[in-house]
Amino acid sequence: MADVTFTSPKMAKDLTVYATAGDCHTLLSVAKAHKVPIEFECENGECGSCSIQVVVMADTPMAIHLTEKEKTVLRFSGKISKQQIEDAEVRDMPPPWRLACQYIVRDEDILVRL
Ligand code: FES
Repeated sequence: MADVTFTSPKMAKDLTVYATAGDCHTLLSVAKAHKVPIEFECENGECGSCSIQVVVMADTPMAIHLTEKEKTVLRFSGKISKQQIEDAEVRDMPPPWRLACQYIVRDEDILVRL
């Protein structure tokens, strides 16, 4: 189980939900299931509308996997740099921005800023 805490000025208060690792749910699907007001359009990693900031609460984050679409969209929008992609993939350093429709929730507590 992972605690996923959503925070946003659009929400009256923060919301923490418990996601089951291994179900391969995207962060977007978890947000939608709990009626978190997250923006989205394509749900396919192409539009960038679901960009969110993710803070991994663990001292030692798990290995990071960014999809090719996610890398392209976040780089094009200026939200992450080439160096941050390399840091994520080689050094397991979480990048500051992710796409909710591409991020698979794992057994790792995270804070999500909309
Ligand atoms: Fe379009 Fe996520 S909804 S990139």
